[in-house]
Amino acid sequence: MSKKWKIGLVGCGAIAAWNYLPELKTMSNVEIVSVCDIIPERAKNYSARFEVPEWYDNIDEMLLNSDFEILVDTASIPAHFEINMKALKAGKHLYSQKPLASSVKEINILIDEAKKRNLKISASPIHMLRPEIKKTRELVESGVIGKVNFVRCSSSHGGPEYFQYRDVDPSWFYRKDVGPLFDLGVHALHQVTGILGPAKAVVCLSGISERERIVRSGKFDGRTIKPEIDDNSLLMLEFEDSTFAFIDSTYCVKASRSPYMEIFGSKGTIVLRYDPSNRLELYLDDIERNIRGWTIPIENWPEFKQSFGVKDLMEALEEDREPVLTPEHAKHVVEIIEKAYESSRSGRKILLETVF
Ligand SMILES: NC(=O)c1ccc[n+]([C@@H]2O[C@H](COP(=O)([O-])OP(=O)(O)OC[C@H]3O[C@@H](n4cnc5c(N)ncnc54)[C@H](O)[C@@H]3O)[C@@H](O)[C@H]2O)c1
Repeated sequence: MSKKWKIGLVGCGAIAAWNYLPELKTMSNVEIVSVCDIIPERAKNYSARFEVPEWYDNIDEMLLNSDFEILVDTASIPAHFEINMKALKAGKHLYSQKPLASSVKEINILIDEAKKRNLKISASPIHMLRPEIKKTRELVESGVIGKVNFVRCSSSHGGPEYFQYRDVDPSWFYRKDVGPLFDLGVHALHQVTGILGPAKAVVCLSGISERERIVRSGKFDGRTIKPEIDDNSLLMLEFEDSTFAFIDSTYCVKASRSPYMEIFGSKGTIVLRYDPSNRLELYLDDIERNIRGWTIPIENWPEFKQSFGVKDLMEALEEDREPVLTPEHAKHVVEIIEKAYESSRSGRKILLETVF
């Protein structure tokens, strides 16, 4: 029988309850030992609700007293660097919700700490493990759509305060160190760079488009939020050979009927949608094979869950390989975000330095 991994989770909020705790509970090689949140009632409730033996309201106490091997960080974005650093210093392998940290400098510190202690880091977003993104990369790499000319990818929604099901205070998403780029843009940036490889340069227009947001549900219904960070960012990325990507990362899309990604090549187009009945479509214009038209390359997709990022980390530890979701890829994405703001402020195209 395979090893049973002991896990401690920090951050008892929405994603922990919707995905991580229920999904990890179903994995036979996982034992969730402890949960932690700075709000004690949350930690206590989650411990009871998900039958986790220990709960803490302080990560230092958790790291001192709880015996586990992998720390899963599902806390709010501004807390990530501190939590992740403490986990590594305490000798834990790390799986972090995105972003791993909020600057290239911080991610370098985490990578160095992990190397020093022979620990592994993996971080969401989970796109490069998703079957349709893996298939897309395969199609692009095989040259089936020819030379990629440009990509359009959308990472926007109507704002965290807009969701009718949310019962936590979403104000933190509008703090200076969060905003749609760190919350949502990371998705498009991971997908586009995961498929095309590292980008060379970024250009961005960004600003605060709506000066006031009103929470639309839950305990904080009616609360007014005044954004401290841009809610409307449009980016362009430059790759080799005049291949470009256009990315929207905003809290300004109440609804949309567009696919979330379209890849336009010299011989065809790949279209990706969140619609489970039509996730990936391929248009081919192949003169040699006399094909011109739309096709659906795969109809039945394997099951995929948010917690598969943690599963991949456990397998990477067992197989002594790097996890698929690497900290170096996360660092490239964070560099793009930092330089997107720099581009917006300066009105210039900014060159990127990191690769993965
Ligand atoms: N909600 C989503 O749809 C969603 C989807 C994908 C990813 N995520 C990511 O998951 C993470 C959490 O998002 P969420 O929506 O669950 O947030 P949330 O606000 O529902 O929960 C965050 C929790 O972290 C706790 N916390 C904050 N600082 C802490 C600290 N220092 N120590 C311990 N606990 C602390 C808060 O008290 C809160 O309970 C973020 O990184 C977010 O980007 C969220």
